[in-house]
Amino acid sequence: MIIAETIEQLHAALSAQREAHPRQFIGFVPTMGFLHEGHASLMRRAKEECGYAVLSIFVNPMQFGPNEDFDQYPRDAARDIQIAEKNGIDVVFMPSVAEMYPKKPVTKVMIGGVTERLCGASRPGHFDGVGLVVSKLFHLVQPDRAYFGMKDAQQVAVIERMTEDLNIPVRIVPCETVREADGLALSSRNVYLSEEERSQAVILSRTLARAEEWVKSPGMTNRALSDKIKESIGQAPLAKIDYAEVLTYPDLESLHDDAEIISHNGKILVALAVKFGRTRLIDNRLMELH
Ligand code: PAJ
Repeated sequence: MIIAETIEQLHAALSAQREAHPRQFIGFVPTMGFLHEGHASLMRRAKEECGYAVLSIFVNPMQFGPNEDFDQYPRDAARDIQIAEKNGIDVVFMPSVAEMYPKKPVTKVMIGGVTERLCGASRPGHFDGVGLVVSKLFHLVQPDRAYFGMKDAQQVAVIERMTEDLNIPVRIVPCETVREADGLALSSRNVYLSEEERSQAVILSRTLARAEEWVKSPGMTNRALSDKIKESIGQAPLAKIDYAEVLTYPDLESLHDDAEIISHNGKILVALAVKFGRTRLIDNRLMELH
């Protein structure tokens, strides 16, 4: 496995690979490190489907708000390298902030529409930072396929729209969320949770499972469903709801409050962001109605 810390090293590795195997696909998994089994599942899929897999580890300052956890974001490069190697990665790209942003970027990648709600609304500027870094990484790696987790369903919708609008020649592959045995979605941020918060955090996946049933009940309106979801999360005393929304997918548009959910044609996304102390957790469930 090659470890590239500079763009030059990355290009050297990729051009050698392209020269030796011009017809082999390149799969790409962008991450911010502190890798867990969710990331590992994307790495294995990239390797399996493409034969050659590139992983990036870069905690991107541009996607963190001024009061967010950029400085505290967990990092463990040595452990990440071992996990990458075990999961079939051929090249790890782990640049410094100065390597990625030698100058303060004046070019903006602003994705509208799909960023209006959920994390786009509660973390202003977040998806501009994600759009910028992901388009830079796509240009640097030039992958055939890029693998993203549905844990961040809005991120998938944003990246899909960006690559479509800009004709970036990459296929986005959405991958299923990997969970702990009790249902909690794996996240690098789970390490922040106290024991008590960790045991209550199961309320997210439990509520989403209940929502799947509620959605199917005839006469269930968007308003009634949102109330039931909020009531369910409220059963965890430490939980503070940031958002709990039911939207169309992949356009991420609101449903009318009085609309009967079951009569919607297509996919709907139930998306949650819940804070436990200082830790903000997100989870979602995509439901196909017809
Ligand atoms: P990060 O949070 O490190 O996540 C990297 C990738 O792993 C994302 O596609 C994310 O959806 C996926 N992932 C995280 N937890 C997962 C889980 N439990 N199951 C399946 N996949 C999971 O998302 C980012 O980094 C950044 O925004 C990035 C795209 C790298 C841009 O900086």
